[in-house]
Amino acid sequence: MRMYDIIIKKRNGEELTKEEIQYFVKGYTEGSIPDYQAAALLMSIYFKGMNKKETAELTIAMVNSGDAVDLSEINGIKVDKHSTGGVGDKISLIVVPLVASLGIPVAKMSGRGLGHTGGTIDKLEAIDGFKTEYTKDEFINNVNKYKMAISGQSGNLVPADKKLYALRDVTATIDSIPLIASSVMSKKIASGADCIVLDVKVGSGAFMKSVEEAVELAETMVEIGKSLKRRTVAIVTDMNQPLGHEVGNSNEIIEAIDVLKGKGSEDETEVALTIAAYMAILGGAYEEFEEAYSALREIIESGKAIDKLKHLIKIQGGDPEIVDNTDRLPRAKYHIEVKSEYEGFITSINAENIGISAMLLGAGRKTKEDKIDFSAGISLKKKVGDRTAIGETLCILHTNLGDTAEAEQIAQCAYNIGNIQKKIDRYVYRIIQ
Ligand code: URA
Repeated sequence: MRMYDIIIKKRNGEELTKEEIQYFVKGYTEGSIPDYQAAALLMSIYFKGMNKKETAELTIAMVNSGDAVDLSEINGIKVDKHSTGGVGDKISLIVVPLVASLGIPVAKMSGRGLGHTGGTIDKLEAIDGFKTEYTKDEFINNVNKYKMAISGQSGNLVPADKKLYALRDVTATIDSIPLIASSVMSKKIASGADCIVLDVKVGSGAFMKSVEEAVELAETMVEIGKSLKRRTVAIVTDMNQPLGHEVGNSNEIIEAIDVLKGKGSEDETEVALTIAAYMAILGGAYEEFEEAYSALREIIESGKAIDKLKHLIKIQGGDPEIVDNTDRLPRAKYHIEVKSEYEGFITSINAENIGISAMLLGAGRKTKEDKIDFSAGISLKKKVGDRTAIGETLCILHTNLGDTAEAEQIAQCAYNIGNIQKKIDRYVYRIIQ
C-alpha cells in the first residue's frame, strides 16, 4: 500500500477502505508517513468529506493508536462529557460536582487549551495545589470513593489525535465534520466511560458556524458512539458570544463557583443544567428531562453542589477555601477597560476574537510550550442585546503584561454595535440522541 495512492483516491472523492485508513493512522502515528503527505490527505478529506462508515473506521483506527483506559473497575454507569470547544466554556467545572451530587460516577478526562479555546485542566491549575495528573488506579479509586475525578489525558491516549490535531491546527483543516467527529469520539471511546454527553458548540466562536452543520456533526458523533456501544447524546448550544461573562482561568473558576451557588448568568446556568440533566439521565438517575433538570436546580439551591465542588478541590489537593474567598486565586496586576466608541446595542460579540485577545493577555498558549498566566483574562461587562453609550466599558482586560495594545484592539473589534436590539434568547438549539 502507498500513501500516494490513498491521497489520490480521497482527492478524487472516492471512499477509503478500512485497511487504507488504518495504514494512514498507524503510519502517521509511528512517523513513517511524513507531515506533508498527512497534510495532503487531511486537506482532501476537508474538501471531499468522508461518509459515516469511513468516519467510524477513522475513529476506531485512532482509538487503536494508543492505550484505551479500562474503567470497568468503577462501580456503576460511568458518564463523561466533552465540548467541541468554545470561549468562556467552564461547563465541565460545573457539571462534574453537580452530577456527582446525585451519586453518579463522573470520570472526567479533560484537555488543555490551544489557540483561542480554553481547556479545563489549565483552568483547574489556577487553584493552588490542584493535582491534574493521576495514574489509572488513583483515578479509579477517586471515582469509586467520591463519585468524581478530573484528570488530564494520559500520555498514550489516542496519540494519533495529538499528532493529527497539531497538524490540522496549522493546515487550516480543523473545521471538518469527519475530522472533528473522529478526534472527539476517539478520545471519548478510549477514555472508557459508558455514556457520553457531547456539547456541540455553534456560532462565531465555534468550529461549526451554522446550526445545520452543528447538527450534522452531532448526528455523526452520536452514531459513532452508538455503533461502539456507548450511550451518546449531543446537545447543540450557542457560541455566538462567549459563554457567561468571564474568559480566562482564575476568573472562569470564580464564575463556575457563582453558578454552583445559584448566582450564575442565565446562559451558563441553562447550558450547564441541560448537560448535567442528560448526564443524569444516561447515568440512570432519572428518566425525564424536566425531572432531572429541576432536581439539579434544587441541588444548587440547597448548597449541596457548591459543597461538592469544595470537596472535589480538597480531594484533588487544591485549596478549598477559594470557594468562599476567591481573592485567594491568582489576580492580575493590571485591569484595562475597553470602552465603547459608539452608542447603540451590542449586536454580536465575536467569541473567537475575545479568545484570541485573552490568549494575548497571557490566558492561553500561542504554542504548546507557552506558560499560562492564570490571572489573565477578560470580564465581559456588555453582552449581546445590552445597550451602550459612547465611553461605557464593554469589557475589562486582566493581565500582568505591560503592552496590551493588540489585545485591546482585538477585544474592541470583537464587539459589533448597531441600532437594532437583538436578544439571544436560546442557548440550547437541538438535542440529538
Ligand atoms: N475538539 C476536539 O477534541 N477535536 C477537534 O477536532 C475539535 C474540537
